[in-house]
Amino acid sequence: MEQPRDQWATKLGLILAMAGNAIGLGNFWRFPYQLASNGGGAFMIPYFIALFFLGIPVMWIEWTIGRYGGKYGHGTLGPMFYLMSRDSLKPRGALWLGVIGGLLGFSVASLLSSYYYQIIGWSAAYTYYSLTGAYFGQDTYKFFVSYISNTNAVLFFWGLTMVILGIAVAQGVSKGIERWVKVMMPTLYVFAIILVIRALTLGSPVKPEWSAIKGLEYIWRPDFQTLSHNFFKISLAAAGQIFFTLSLGMGIIHNYASYLGPEDDVALSGLATVSLNEFAEVILGGSLAIPIAFAYLGPEKAIKSGVGLAYMSLPNVFMNMPAGQIFGAFWFLLLWFAGFTSAIATYNYLVAMLEEDIHIERKKGTWLVFIWLFILGLPIALDKTLLVLTDMDMWVGSYFLVILGFFDVVVGLWLFGIDRFWEELHKGAYINIPGWFKPIMVYIAPLYMLILLGGNTWDYIKNGVITLSPAYIQDLVKNQALVSTTEAYAKHAVTISRAMIIVVIIIGAIEAYMAIKKKYGEELEKNEVLIRV
Ligand code: ALA
Repeated sequence: MEQPRDQWATKLGLILAMAGNAIGLGNFWRFPYQLASNGGGAFMIPYFIALFFLGIPVMWIEWTIGRYGGKYGHGTLGPMFYLMSRDSLKPRGALWLGVIGGLLGFSVASLLSSYYYQIIGWSAAYTYYSLTGAYFGQDTYKFFVSYISNTNAVLFFWGLTMVILGIAVAQGVSKGIERWVKVMMPTLYVFAIILVIRALTLGSPVKPEWSAIKGLEYIWRPDFQTLSHNFFKISLAAAGQIFFTLSLGMGIIHNYASYLGPEDDVALSGLATVSLNEFAEVILGGSLAIPIAFAYLGPEKAIKSGVGLAYMSLPNVFMNMPAGQIFGAFWFLLLWFAGFTSAIATYNYLVAMLEEDIHIERKKGTWLVFIWLFILGLPIALDKTLLVLTDMDMWVGSYFLVILGFFDVVVGLWLFGIDRFWEELHKGAYINIPGWFKPIMVYIAPLYMLILLGGNTWDYIKNGVITLSPAYIQDLVKNQALVSTTEAYAKHAVTISRAMIIVVIIIGAIEAYMAIKKKYGEELEKNEVLIRV
C-alpha cells in the first residue's frame, strides 16, 4: 500500500524550514559582495524595489503552486506546472509547460547544488582552519588558493558536507529536515547576533578614520548619483540578489510548500519567510562582512574584495582581532549552517523526484542523488581557477532563476486563471492580501522579469559570453580566474560548464515528460481532464 505523503509536523518547523531554505550563503557571502561592488547605498534602492515588486509576489506564487501540487502528491515542478495549465491548454498542451517546469526545476536543483555545496565545503574547511589558526599570520589570498588547489582537502570537506546532508535528507521531511532545521536555524541567528555585536563594537582598531560604522554608512546612505550612472547594471544585480536570496526560481520553495496540508496558510507564511530572510540578510548580513572589513581593511580594500570578501578578506580581520580564532570559527560555521539549510532543500527536490516519479524509496533515492551530485560537482571541485563555477553561477544562479520565475507567473496566474489563483492563495489564509497587489503579480512582476532577462541577454551578447569571443576569454583569464591560467584552459573550463548545463537540461526534460505521461497518461490520450482531487 502507498504511504501517505509526508507533511510538516509543526507550524514552527515549517517556518524554520522555509526560512532555512531561503537564508543561505546568499545572505552572508553573496549579499555583502554584491552590495560592495554595486555602490553600497546605490544598490539598496533597487534592492528594496525588487523585494516589493518581485520578491514578495513570486514568493506567494511559489507557495501557492507548491501547495496545489502537493494535493496531488507532487513535489516537483513538472507535474505541478502540468496540473495548473491543463484547464486552459488541455492536457496535451499543458504537457509542454510541465516539461519546461520540470527541466528548469531539475536543472537548477542539480546545477546549483554542484557548486553551492562546494562553497559550503569551503566554509567547513575554514571553520576548522579558524579554530586551528592555520591561516593566522599568512597571506590570506595565497592561503585560499592553496586550499582550492589542495584536491584532497577540497574533496574531504565537500564530501563531509554532502554525507551530512544525505543523512538529514534520508530521514525524511518531518523526521529529518524539520528536526535538523529546528536546531540549526535558532543557532544560526544566535551566532549572527553575537557576531553583529562584536562587529559593531570594534571601534577603530587600525586607523581612526576606519570603522564599522563607516561601513554601515556606506550601505545605508542612499546614493542616487552612483545609481543613475550605472542604473541598469545595479538594478539587474539587485533583482538577481532578490531571487537568489529568497530561493525563488529554484523549485525549492514549491517543493517545501508541497508538504503542506491543502488548507494550510500560505499567505502569512510566505510573508514570514520573506521577513525572516530579509532580517537575516539586510540587518544581520549587512552588519557583518562589510562593517568588519571597513574597520580592519579600510573602505577601499573592503569594497574591492568582490567574491573573495568572505573567504579571503575576513580571515585577515580574524587574525588581528582579539579571540579571532573563536570569532572566525563562528563566522564560518554560520556560513556552513546557512548553506546547509538551503542545500537540504535542493537535495530534497531531487530525492522527491525519484520518490514520486520512479517510486524509489527515500533512503535509496538519497544515495543515488548523492552519486549524481558528486559526479556533477567533481569538475568544479577539480578546477583550481574556479572558472567552471563562475560560468555555472552566471547561467544558473541568475538567468535560470528569472526564467523559472517568469514561468511561475505564466502557469500559476495566467494559465491557472487569475481569480482561481487568488482564491487558492487565500485558502486557509491568516491574512487578506489587498486587491491592489493583484496587478503587481499579474503584470508588473512578469514585466520586470522580462526586462531583466532582456537586459541579461543583451549583456551576454555584448560581452561575447555566448559565442566565447576572444575578448571574453581574455577577460576570464585576466580578471576572473582565481589562479593564472591560459586561454585554452579558460575555454575548456567554460565548455565543460556549458556541456554540463545542456546535458542536465535534456535529462530534466525527458524525466518530466515521462513522469507526467506515466501518471496522467489516460487524460493525455483523451486530451481531457480526468483526475481531480
Ligand atoms: N536562498 C539561498 C541562499 O541565499 C539559496 O543562499
